[in-house]
Amino acid sequence: MLEKQIAVCYNLLKNICPNKGEAQMAVIFDNEHRRVILTTNDTEYVIEIIRERFLGHVYYGPKTADGVPDFAYRIASFSPYYEGFFDFQPDMCTTEYSYFGNGDFRCTSLKVRSANGSSVTGFEYRSHRVFKGHAPIDRLPYAEAGDSDSTLEITLWDSVSQCELKLYYTVFEDCNVISRYMKLTNKGTSPVEIEKCMSLQCDLPGTDYDMITLYGKHGCERLFSRTPLHRGNQSIYSRRGTSSHQFNPFMGICRRTATEEKGDCYGFNFVYSGSFLGEAEVGQECGCRVQLGLGGENFGWHLSPGEVFESPEAVMTFSAVGVGGMSRNFHKFTRDRILPKEIHKNRPVVLNTWEAVYFNIDEKILSDFAEKAVKYGIDMLVMDDGWFGARENDSAGLGDWWANPVKFKNGLGAFVKKIKKTGIKFGIWIEPEMVNPDSDLYRAHPEWTLRCAGRESMLSREQLVLDMSNPCVVEYLKNSFEDAFGDVPIDYIKWDMNRHLSQVGSDFLPPERQKEASHRYMLGVYDLYRWFRERFPDVMIENCSGGGGRYDLGMMKYSHQIWASDNTDPVWRTRIQYGSSLAYPASTMSCHVSHPGDDPDEIEYRFTVAAGGILGYEMNILNMDDKVLERIPGQIERYRRWEELIKTGDFYRLSNPCEKIYGSYYFTDSARNTILLTFVQLEADKDYKEIKLRVSCADKNAVYTDALTKERYTGDQLRKGITVTTGTEDKRYYRMWELIRDRA
Ligand code: GLA
Repeated sequence: MLEKQIAVCYNLLKNICPNKGEAQMAVIFDNEHRRVILTTNDTEYVIEIIRERFLGHVYYGPKTADGVPDFAYRIASFSPYYEGFFDFQPDMCTTEYSYFGNGDFRCTSLKVRSANGSSVTGFEYRSHRVFKGHAPIDRLPYAEAGDSDSTLEITLWDSVSQCELKLYYTVFEDCNVISRYMKLTNKGTSPVEIEKCMSLQCDLPGTDYDMITLYGKHGCERLFSRTPLHRGNQSIYSRRGTSSHQFNPFMGICRRTATEEKGDCYGFNFVYSGSFLGEAEVGQECGCRVQLGLGGENFGWHLSPGEVFESPEAVMTFSAVGVGGMSRNFHKFTRDRILPKEIHKNRPVVLNTWEAVYFNIDEKILSDFAEKAVKYGIDMLVMDDGWFGARENDSAGLGDWWANPVKFKNGLGAFVKKIKKTGIKFGIWIEPEMVNPDSDLYRAHPEWTLRCAGRESMLSREQLVLDMSNPCVVEYLKNSFEDAFGDVPIDYIKWDMNRHLSQVGSDFLPPERQKEASHRYMLGVYDLYRWFRERFPDVMIENCSGGGGRYDLGMMKYSHQIWASDNTDPVWRTRIQYGSSLAYPASTMSCHVSHPGDDPDEIEYRFTVAAGGILGYEMNILNMDDKVLERIPGQIERYRRWEELIKTGDFYRLSNPCEKIYGSYYFTDSARNTILLTFVQLEADKDYKEIKLRVSCADKNAVYTDALTKERYTGDQLRKGITVTTGTEDKRYYRMWELIRDRA
């Protein structure tokens, strides 16, 4: 039946788009039912054009064998309708996008104030088209389309504001991901004000959902929370000008009965690094509305006649195989469509200087670090904060991006060349978006900071924020980094951002555009990132914002990995990495072994945790015990064997370390030939406990040998579970299994 339907639709499509052919199958138009059907490998999303005026949302879920349900017309007293359209009550229906003041009393996707002063907004369907690939979004990061990906563009019109609205849906077929963004063009003769803008709306059926969010604070980012949705509106947000430590822009909405392996789970995320709003609203009876976008509190936009505004892209996925399936869809999408392409190259194992010497950057100490690090198999030395301007502590120097002449007598270039002669690569720390009042830059250009006329600007970590909405500031930074690094053979940048935005105003913007400052700040930041990537294409970027304060898909577009947290304690890192894995692949997580003390067992424990992502070290190797340091070469050698699997393998979580006293998970390749299983106990147990680690992906007909111990397991045994026993008193059990399928 479905095949017949698809064949009919395909023929129709060929008539509409005669030159597009096979590649367009991800988006088909069923003219008879006025439906657009978006199809990924495992999911289907259906939109219906209702009476040639409204956009109804019909279905999002697994591919169905018997066709999707009819559009549900629901009516209720107190729900407005247009004359002649009694059964289409926007407040009672599932729709693709919603408009302020237009009879839908749930949270709103779009609010635009027309020249007449009214913010009542309403757009009606005009046309749609399908094209291959993804249209560029001006100055914003967005997912890269693959060969099989196509985009649906729906055009709507509002005759009062004289604005044209285009909604975009890109279908990333093999990732089971669909993205959404909008474009508003003022075709009238008077300016309009965008007061709220959401990129994505998804009206889900039913109300029995849990909401999964990643919350936290500096040093404890992306901690897992799962709570039942209640009636009314619940939200995640940032008003901080960054995607923030406090809430990550990821949201999971799963059925109450869904587990890691079973049940329906929707995932949502935002390709953006600034303030945002994510809402889930359980309405009076017709389900749960999910929205994600810029919101309206920290965002506004003045749209003059002829101007166009494009929103950042938001993404959604669906998994019928539980929360784990949702994560794996997002992992694949992030790896294949977001992260810089050279992601699959070997990553350097770095030694970072921050927790070893803090601001006390010294040529001799760093040279000693380099020599010793090379001896222990480390690939790169990263010189953290403290190398530039008058930077002796955090009260001075930000903004002055030249090497401190006292610390580097012969300049940065000579120093880096000398260091690299030891055979090590070299990375360097920067924090471009910030300025200390005690800096040459601030003394010359106080007007280049974010500030509001007549109000005192507030400091945080003794620094102010540069006004990245001002192109002169971005230009200054480009020139500074050109001068600082143009002739210096750096291999890696750690790009930091160490405060949140207050007094967000701009001397550069006119009064009617002040509300744009927060979004324009991000556009300027992205401009600088793009310049960096183009100017230094071989330089790797590690993103950081006081650890993982900008751990988002926007930053991942330009950075290879992200410093997951300033908290390097292995117990907290286990929880942070677990939470991060809900939405992001392990290849994005920069994980360092820090301060193991003089106990060789402790460095192995810390390594076991750090090997859940991209390995590095952060400790003073000059004053450490040899018997501890001697563990490093073996760790790096093992890590190199596993690196490909950690970066590109399928990831399965076995336990939640935010709820239990242990974490466990495994990576596996698609053929299930290698399985890398980890168990880490976080604290000593009161009593011995036996725990089964069920490797449900193991091939039950195969035999696997643990390359670390030579122990053998049948696939069936692995599926039933390896038993581990927790340690009591001061013992914490931890272990990795490198399970390799025996050749037949
Ligand atoms: C932030 C980072 C740290 C370190 C310091 C330097 O806190 O997260 O890793 O780079 O800045 O000031």
